[in-house]
Parts: sequence; structure tokens; C-alpha cells
Amino acid sequence: MDTASYVARRGQIAHYFDRTAADAWAKLTSDAPVSKIRATVRAGRDRMRGTLLSYLPEDLTGKRLLDAGCGTGALAVEAARRGAHVTAIDLSPTLIDLARERTPVDGLQGRIDFTAGDMLDPALGEFDHVVAMDSLIHYTSPDMVRALAGLARRTRTSIVYTFAPKTPALAAMHAVGRLFPRGDRAPAIEPVSRRRMHGAIDRHAELNDWRVGRGEKITSGFYMSHAQELTRE
Ligand SMILES: C[S@@+](CC[C@H](N)C(=O)[O-])C[C@H]1O[C@@H](n2cnc3c(N)ncnc32)[C@H](O)[C@@H]1O
Repeated sequence: MDTASYVARRGQIAHYFDRTAADAWAKLTSDAPVSKIRATVRAGRDRMRGTLLSYLPEDLTGKRLLDAGCGTGALAVEAARRGAHVTAIDLSPTLIDLARERTPVDGLQGRIDFTAGDMLDPALGEFDHVVAMDSLIHYTSPDMVRALAGLARRTRTSIVYTFAPKTPALAAMHAVGRLFPRGDRAPAIEPVSRRRMHGAIDRHAELNDWRVGRGEKITSGFYMSHAQELTRE
């Protein structure tokens, strides 16, 4: 599965989230005041988290859930509150440390296993549900679909994830992003149209028994991402 393009991009993402953007990411995912632009991103991300969680059963008692690319862990905490046993994994050890620190001390600790590493590591075991919020958007669409197939192999019921929709508005935002100094830039986001994404899923042999379910594009100022559910038939 690990194509050269996947490995190269994974290295850039790890460096970006663990070094370049770790402080900004810690702030964005906290309650600290942020610029107006970032506030729109924070609001969009809150809506996205709520939408992805709404695609999962309300009662997750006894279910194993993988938070694939968990960042600072907000979604993992909410899933654990709903009863799930969560494995929360991220490439960035810095963000994983922060996620551990931020986990409330109200009985949730034992229910979330925070780990630094690759979400596609088969050693993580099997899951009922996988959530990948904005963690696959930096991979090319063929690598993204291969990653979904890799996750599907270990998932019993559903995968909920996001992709960057290919729209003129998003292209404009990326053009603005390219004005930032090179060292501060995030690894490129790889927009893909819904039709192309779903076509690639339909054609992938290992995703034959998976069905494209609910979906919603979420836009809030400088945030735009598409929530998508995949369920095993
Ligand atoms: C945009 S952040 C989103 C974090 C979190 N899901 C959230 O919504 O707050 C993307 C995260 O995905 C992680 N990531 C990307 N590729 C990954 C991989 N192959 N394995 C584990 N984590 C990965 C990055 O390190 C980064 O923290």
C-alpha cells in the first residue's frame, strides 16, 4: 500500500504538524482567541466534527473506534464520552502529547489509547468504526482511496472521513495560501470532485462490499471540506 507518493507526503505532513504548525494547531483547537479568519475555520471544524459524529450510532458502548489522524483529540474525547473504546493515532508526537494532556480527568482516560504513528498500521487491530477528519485531504486521490481500502480491511461497520471538494472557491483559497512564505506553508491539499472520488471507490476491488452513504459539504469562511460516510453492505 505504501506508494512512494504516500510515503513522501506522509513525511511532509508529519513535519508540518509536528514542527511548523504545532503551536498554531494547538491554538486553533483550543478556546484561545484567534483572528477572524481562523475563527471561521474553527467554527467550520466544529460543525464538521459534529457532522461526522452524527453519522455514528448515538450509543457507542463497547465499540472500537479508530480516530485516524486525531490531532489534539477533540473527536476522540467525544466518541469516548459516547461509550467507545478509542484508538487515537497521529503522525505528530507533539500533538499526541497535547491530546493526552487535554483529555478530561473524568473517567475517560482508560477509554482512549493515544498513539503516535501511521493510521494504516495493521498492528492497530480491527475496529467497528473509523473516523478520519481532514487527515486524508493532503494525499492524492489514488493514495486516498488506497488508504480507505487499507482501513476498510480492518473495519466492520463504517468509515466516516472528509475530502477536499474540487470547487472554484477552494481553488481561490489555495491560491491565497500559496502567497504564504514557503516555510510556513502546509503540505498541498489535494481537491477531488465528489464524482471522481465516488467513482474510484466504486471501482476499487477491495471496496466492493462498501457503499457510499451520507455526505455533506461544509463551508465556513476559509474552511471547506466534504463529510462522507462509507458503510459495509
Ligand atoms: C488537519 S489535521 C486534523 C486533525 C484532527 N482530525 C482534527 O480534525 O482536529 C490532520 C492530521 O492528520 C494527521 N495525519 C495525516 N496523515 C496521517 C497518517 N498517515 N497517519 C496518522 N496521522 C496522519 C496529521 O499529522 C494531522 O495531525
